[in-house]
Amino acid sequence: MIRVTIMDEDRIRDIDEANMLKDITSMPDHIREAAEISKKVRLEGPFKSIFSVGMGGSGIAGELLGDLVDRVPVFLCRDYELPKFINKDSLIILNSYSGNTEETLACAKAALKTKANVLVITSGGRLLEMAKKHTWAFVNIPSGLRPRASLGYQLFSILCVLSNSGVVNLSTDIGKAVEALEKGSFKDKAISLAEKMKGRIPLIYSSPQYSSVAVRWKAQLNENAKIHAFANIIPEMNHNEIMGFTKLLAEHYVVFIRDEQDNKRIIERVRITKKIITNCGVDSTELVLKGSSKLSKMITAVHVGDLVSYYLALEYGVDPSVNHLIDEIKRELTK
Ligand code: F6R
Repeated sequence: MIRVTIMDEDRIRDIDEANMLKDITSMPDHIREAAEISKKVRLEGPFKSIFSVGMGGSGIAGELLGDLVDRVPVFLCRDYELPKFINKDSLIILNSYSGNTEETLACAKAALKTKANVLVITSGGRLLEMAKKHTWAFVNIPSGLRPRASLGYQLFSILCVLSNSGVVNLSTDIGKAVEALEKGSFKDKAISLAEKMKGRIPLIYSSPQYSSVAVRWKAQLNENAKIHAFANIIPEMNHNEIMGFTKLLAEHYVVFIRDEQDNKRIIERVRITKKIITNCGVDSTELVLKGSSKLSKMITAVHVGDLVSYYLALEYGVDPSVNHLIDEIKRELTK
């Protein structure tokens, strides 16, 4: 196995032509800039429900938001249509990095027929034009990144606007999250995990409060490393997916993501699940999240997953930035 740590710089530059590593490690700067560009954006609440619209690398910001906000329910919309139960007390967040994703644009048109409040997060495209035309609140984030590498801009723009609008109270947590990213050392752990995952299908299991983090890991492994990966939560996987370890059709590697303060029964379930899968011959790692706030724990866990997917891409010799199959589908659909 090629050790990424000793992979020569020229070879890394050949594989990672667009320098995805820089975008991943710039997350603290992206967060700081997000706070700056969204500081004047304020919404007229209160809201009784939030609907987060977005696909792929943009949709994940809403999913993480759902695991963070506990005062208002957050519903995810990954469709061409908005749920029927949106009303004047709802906030619709339309989030598309390019601003041209057709599902999100269809929901943007549907939003015009509701009386809900709208917030747009985008770097441009038709969505920005619509926001300006319909005087929707918007944050215009910088362009030039792969959508999935702009998570710092997307998530923290939303959090800052919600914080300015009194929907969440996270202003000190945002500073702590940046500090946790800057002070932590994640590279060696990520390289070692990528080496263990090589040649195996990653299965990411989290406690329910971090399901969005597990989904982010899965999506980053899909898009950066170009492999299948799967995410589930404990306890749910204890009631079905665990049975798949009986008749393994391929090699797998399991990552458990949990909090040291998770429900005691969940911690016990992780311990038992780990024992069972080890007996079935499957290796695993447990990532126990520690930190001063949930946001810090989430964002550092996301960052480790981003790095793992990056180093796994290098291990496989695939460019982490390109998404030829996603692009092919989008191209065919515009014909
Ligand atoms: C590409 C990526 C994709 C896109 C998705 C939606 O980096 O992560 O999952 O995010 O195809 O496109 P946008 O984000 O432009 O709405």
